Amino acid sequence: MDVEQLKLILAGIEQEARQAVQAAATLEALRGVRAKFLGKKGSLGQLMGTIRDYPPEQRGLAGQTLNAASQAVTALFEERQKQIESSEVAADASGAGAHDPSLPGVRLPLGNVHPVTAVQWQIEHVFQRLGFTVEAGPEMESDYYNFEALNIPAMHPARDMQDTFWLTNGLLLRTHTSPVQVRTMEKFGPPIRCIVPGRCFRYETIDASHENTFHQCEGLVIDRNISIANLIAVMRLLLREVFQRDVKVRLRPGYFPFVEPGFELDMSCLICGGSGCATCKRSGWVEVLPCGMVHPNVLRYGEIDPHEYTGFAFGLGLTRLAMMKYGISDIRVMNAGDVRALVPPSRMAGPTIVERN
Ligand code: PHE
Repeated sequence: MDVEQLKLILAGIEQEARQAVQAAATLEALRGVRAKFLGKKGSLGQLMGTIRDYPPEQRGLAGQTLNAASQAVTALFEERQKQIESSEVAADASGAGAHDPSLPGVRLPLGNVHPVTAVQWQIEHVFQRLGFTVEAGPEMESDYYNFEALNIPAMHPARDMQDTFWLTNGLLLRTHTSPVQVRTMEKFGPPIRCIVPGRCFRYETIDASHENTFHQCEGLVIDRNISIANLIAVMRLLLREVFQRDVKVRLRPGYFPFVEPGFELDMSCLICGGSGCATCKRSGWVEVLPCGMVHPNVLRYGEIDPHEYTGFAFGLGLTRLAMMKYGISDIRVMNAGDVRALVPPSRMAGPTIVERN
């Protein structure tokens, strides 16, 4: 074969390549076509292997001719590749699952948080999904909201249940989050579905299980036809979500002046597995959820008609719950500012980061 013949063959191949390249609709198809022409065993590749068969004086020209043809064919591929790529980008941007660069980004959790905060966020998340609002009240509270409006009048022996820090200005440091019950009733009226996470204070001697400063999370639901069945269902759901498994619980009668009937909900101690330790006072059970049906007197204080509405309330021990969840056996760790107790985002269950304002 001489160079003239070679040129004819190459012109044919180029023509063929042009058609095949245009016919390729995807990048993958294009890659296949490219191998057929430019690959070692492709038509051009094989011709390359014949150069050494030319007489020496024609070899240079044959090589140049082949190179020129293969560059022309390569250019065809590159052009087509760009075309396909840009049409795929366009399809992506307008099709389902299109990337919209103007949407706000996903906020990634940054830094480690206090165990109480981690549990609080998680609880807020669970309850917000159930349609609850998250309310707050003052830490420096009046006798009226902390006791009186909760059916605990002056001189009532129940005041001794909660040793109180009295302030010189006539107010007190709230001993629980329950004062926000009547505050919320006054603010919204029925129906109500809210939780109130917050800090509480009691005049306690500090040991492994007692602190003078701790966190609770109040819950309050008021509507027509609210029953104990609703209360139990919500408590179960709460504990299951927090511990990501069914925890053993027991319900005992409990006395709180602002609920009737009242209950103590205990869960088996996750620190010792129920065999008894300092955290559970060697009983194997930890009180985490005092609760009950809102007392008619409390509804009246909140200007809600107890004949029309009923409700339930609970006072979750947030600090104790955080200790259970993260295996902290001594409550003194919680206020010690020890960074080793902090919870990294990887140990927070689920997408619990709630935007706080
Ligand atoms: N406020 C109570 C306490 O701190 C707990 C509680 C709340 C009990 C709501 C019943 C209902 O001891």
